[in-house]
Amino acid sequence: MASFKDRELLLSEKSQSESRIVTRSYQQRRRFSFLTTICTICFAASLGAFGIFVSMTFYDCMVEGNLETNATDTDFEAGDVVSNSPQCSSIPHTNRQDCWPQSGVVTQHKCEQKGCCWNPFYGNSPMLGGVPFCFYPSDYQGYTVTSVQKSDTGMKVMLRLQQPSGWPNDVQNVALDVTFDTAQRLSFKFFDPNNARYEVPVKVSRSTNHVTAANTEYNVDIPSQGRFYITVTRKSSGQVLFSTQGASPLVFADQFIQLGTQLSTKYIYGLGEHRAAFLVSTNWTKLAFWSRDQPPSRHSNLYGVHPFYLNIEEDHNAHGVFLLNSNAMEVEVQPAPALTYRTTGGVLDFFVFTGPTPDNVVQQYTELIGRPFMPPYWALGFHLCRWKYGGIDGMKKVIKRMRDAKMPFDTQWNDIDYMRKHLDWTYDTKTFNGLPDVVADLHQHGQHYIMIIDPGISNVQPSGSYPAYDDGLKMDIFIKKPDGSAPIIGTVWPGTTAFPDFFHPNSSAYWLQQAKAYHDMVPFDGIWIDMNEPSNFVAGSESGCPDNTLENPPFVPPVLLGGKLKDKTLCASAKQHISSHYNLHSLYGHSEAIATKSALDIIKGGNTRSIVISRSTYPSTGVHSGHWLGDNNAQWTDSYYSIPGILNFNLFGIPLVGADICGFNGNTNTELCTRWMQLGAFYPFMRNHNTFGTVDQDPAAFDQATQKIMRDALNLRYTLLPYLYTLFYRSHVDGLPVVRPLFFQYPVSDYNVTYMTDVQFMWGSALLITPTTSQNTYKGMGYLPKDRWYDWFNHSYIDSPGHYITFDLPMEHINLQVRGGSIIPLQSPNVTTTLARKNNFIIYAALDVSGSASGELYWDDGESMDSISSGSYNLLSFKLSKRVLTSSLVMGGYQSEPMILGQLYILGVEIGPTSVTANGKIIPPVDYTYINKMLVVHNLSENLLQPLQISWLV
Ligand code: NOJ
Repeated sequence: MASFKDRELLLSEKSQSESRIVTRSYQQRRRFSFLTTICTICFAASLGAFGIFVSMTFYDCMVEGNLETNATDTDFEAGDVVSNSPQCSSIPHTNRQDCWPQSGVVTQHKCEQKGCCWNPFYGNSPMLGGVPFCFYPSDYQGYTVTSVQKSDTGMKVMLRLQQPSGWPNDVQNVALDVTFDTAQRLSFKFFDPNNARYEVPVKVSRSTNHVTAANTEYNVDIPSQGRFYITVTRKSSGQVLFSTQGASPLVFADQFIQLGTQLSTKYIYGLGEHRAAFLVSTNWTKLAFWSRDQPPSRHSNLYGVHPFYLNIEEDHNAHGVFLLNSNAMEVEVQPAPALTYRTTGGVLDFFVFTGPTPDNVVQQYTELIGRPFMPPYWALGFHLCRWKYGGIDGMKKVIKRMRDAKMPFDTQWNDIDYMRKHLDWTYDTKTFNGLPDVVADLHQHGQHYIMIIDPGISNVQPSGSYPAYDDGLKMDIFIKKPDGSAPIIGTVWPGTTAFPDFFHPNSSAYWLQQAKAYHDMVPFDGIWIDMNEPSNFVAGSESGCPDNTLENPPFVPPVLLGGKLKDKTLCASAKQHISSHYNLHSLYGHSEAIATKSALDIIKGGNTRSIVISRSTYPSTGVHSGHWLGDNNAQWTDSYYSIPGILNFNLFGIPLVGADICGFNGNTNTELCTRWMQLGAFYPFMRNHNTFGTVDQDPAAFDQATQKIMRDALNLRYTLLPYLYTLFYRSHVDGLPVVRPLFFQYPVSDYNVTYMTDVQFMWGSALLITPTTSQNTYKGMGYLPKDRWYDWFNHSYIDSPGHYITFDLPMEHINLQVRGGSIIPLQSPNVTTTLARKNNFIIYAALDVSGSASGELYWDDGESMDSISSGSYNLLSFKLSKRVLTSSLVMGGYQSEPMILGQLYILGVEIGPTSVTANGKIIPPVDYTYINKMLVVHNLSENLLQPLQISWLV
C-alpha cells in the first residue's frame, strides 16, 4: 500500500495532469485571476468602511471583470466551464459543493491547488445567487474505506484520507461507528480513533438495547472499499433519508470538520436559533451556530444553538437529523436540495429519526434529548414584566391597575432594576424597599413572582460584602483566563464580572447556596436566566485574548461580528473545568439552566414545580427550562417572526416558549399591542415585556375599549388552559409538540400549502389559530385544511375542501377554528389560574362529519413535582359517537379536589334532540338549548371522577 507521502506525490502528479485537462486557457484564466485579485484588494481595503455598498461594488467589479474578459475573448464567457473536465462540468450549478467556504476570496489557483473545480458563475436567477465558484469535483477522493466490520447491531468502519483537504491538521484515519439504536433511530459517529477529541457533555439517552438490522425501519449502505459514502434509506419506500453521495465530502481536520447530505425535498425545518420563515430556504442559506447575545435579526447567529432539522420526503413522510456537536458551526442549505455541516471541532455525532410522521420525528428526537419538563399550572397564565418599573411604587401601581381592571394575570416579573447596583442575588432596599411584602401579597392573591438573574458576578465589591463573588472564589467555580491563572473578567450590567463555570463540579452547590440565601429573603417562584450566551460587553475579556488557534481557527462560520468568536462573549480559549470555552461556549445557557432548575427544585423542598426561562438554549434544555425569543422590536414584522420562532422551539423540545408580547424595543402602539396580545394569548408561554424608556404596555395601561379586547383575549386563553395543560402533559410524557405547524396535522395538501404556512398554527390537533400580523388589516386570508372546521365564536362550521377563505378581522376578533372531531376540556376563566382552576369544567365537543369526536383531559394539583411519576393525577378520556358522549377515567390518582362538569357544548348536531340524559337521568328541557346545530347543556353537576355517559335522542 502506498504511504501517505507516495500518495501525496501521486496525487500531485494526478492533479497536475488533471489541471492540464481542466484548464482551457491559462491566459484566459490569468486575466480573470488578475481582475479577481484587483477586486479582492479593492474589496479588502474598503471593507468595514463602506459595508454593503462596498459589497455591491465588489460584486459589480467581479461581474465587470468577467464581462471585460468576454469582450476580449469570446471563449471565456460568464458561466462557461473553466475547469471543464467531466468531473466538474457534469455538476449542475445547484449541486455544486463549496470547496472554499472560508471567508476571503478564492482564486482559481488556490482552488485548483485544493483539488477543486473553478468556474465563476454569475447567475441571474436568485436561486443561483450563492453558487460557489470553487467546488468539489464529482470524483473527489477525500476518504476511502479501509475496513468494515459488521455486527448484528451496527458497523465499525475505518476510513483513510486520500488527499489533503487543504485544512490544517487533517486526521488521516477516521473511525465511523454505526449503531442501530432503535427501530426508528440510527446513530453514527465519525471520530479520531487515535486521539480522544472533545465530545458534547450533554446527557442524551443513548440506547443500550440496540436492535438488529432486520428490525430497523432503515437501511444503511456503506461501501466495503473505495470512496467513502454513507446512505440511509427508509426500508418501506426506498426514500433517501441521509446520503453523502453527491453531497459535500467528509473533511476531518482538527478545526474543520465537514459533511454533506442530500435532502429528500426542499421542505426542511428547524436549524435554530435564527430569525427566518419556518420553512428554511434552500437558496444557498448559510446558517451560523454560535450562541450570541443578538437581538433577533435575519442572517445572524442568535441566542441558542439547535442543529436539528426535520425534512419532508416525496411521499409526505418525515424524518429528522440531529448533529450533536457544540462547536462554532455553519450549515449551508442549497437548492440541490442538499445541506452541508461545517464545524470547527469535536466529532460528528449524528442521529437520524425515521418518523414517519412529523409528530413521530419530534417524539423520537425528544426521546433522545429528553422530554420537556411539566410546567406548573400557573406558568401557563399571563406573565407581566418590564425593565425599569420606576422602583417598587411603579411596580405596585401596575399590579394594582391590572387587578382593578380584572385582567387575568398570574405572574409578576422583575428585570435587573430590582437589584442593588445590578448585583445578582440582591435587591435594592431603597428603590425596591418592601419587595418581600409585594411578593407575599402576590402569593396571597394566588399569584407568583419571578426575577431575572444574570450569570456575570461582580468581582469588585469590597471583600466579604458580596457572597456571590467571595463564595465563587472559594469554591473555585469561575471560568478561568486562557492561562488558567485567575477568573476571566468581562463586563456586564454590574460592571466587571466573573462568570460561573456551570460545568465545574462545585457550581451546582455554589448556585444553590446563592439562590437559597436570596429565596430566604424574597421567596420567588421561578428564575429568569438572561445574558447567558454568555454575553460580555467587551470582546473576550477585560485583558483581551491571546492570539492562538482557538481564537483564530482556520474556519469561522459567518458569525457576527467580523467573524470573531470572542465578539460579545468570552475568549474562545478561556478555560472551563472540563474543556475550553471554544468547545463549551454554546452550552453555557444550557449548563446554567440545569444548575438553576436543580437549585429551584431543592429550594422548593423537592416537591413543588417551578420554572426557569432561559435565553440561551441547546438540545435538551427543554428538560429544565423554557425560553423566550429575546429582544424583539415593537413592530409588526416582529409579531410575525414570533410564530416561526415558536414553531421551531416546539420542534426543539422546548414547548414553553413565547416572544415579548407588544414588543421589547421601541414604543408599541394600541393597534399593534392589541393584535399582539391576541396572538400572544396563543403562545405557550405568554409574557408581555418591554425595555426602559418605552411607553407602558401592560394591558391595564390602555383605554377602556382596548382593555376590554385584551381582557377578552386573556379570558379566552384562561378558558382554554385545561386543554393547554393537557397538551403539556402529552409533550412531557410522549414528546408531542404543543404548538404545531399545519403540516403536522395535514401533511398532504394541494400545492403543499401546509408546508409553507407559518402565520397560522395549531394548538395540538384541535385548534387552528389565524392571527393578524399586519397593520390596518380588517380582512385576511387563511388556509382551512381539508376537514370540518368550527368557528369558535359563532359555532358555524365549514367542510373545507382545503382552500383559502377570507376572514373578517375586526379589532376585537381572534380567528380561532376548532377541528371537527375534537373534544376540548375547558373552564370558565378568572383573574388567576389559582381561581380559575376551581371552576367547573366545560366539555366542548366539535363533531366530525360522521358525528364523532374524541379528546382527553389531564388534571393534577397543578404544582406537585411528582404528580406524574407517583400517579397522583387524573387522565380522562372523552369519546362521542352515535349521540353518546362517554367520559372515562384512564387514571384516577388525584381525588383530593372535585372535578365537576358544569356545562357541555356539542357542535355539529344536525337534528335537534328530543331528550337528553346524563348517566340515565333525564335532563329537563329547560336545562338545555339547541341553536345553530349546537346542543348546550347548562347547569350540569356531574362528577368527572366517575364514569359518565351523556346521550341524546332525536
Ligand atoms: C436582555 C434581555 O433580553 C431583556 O429581556 C432584558 O430586559 C435586558 N437584558 C435587561 O435585563
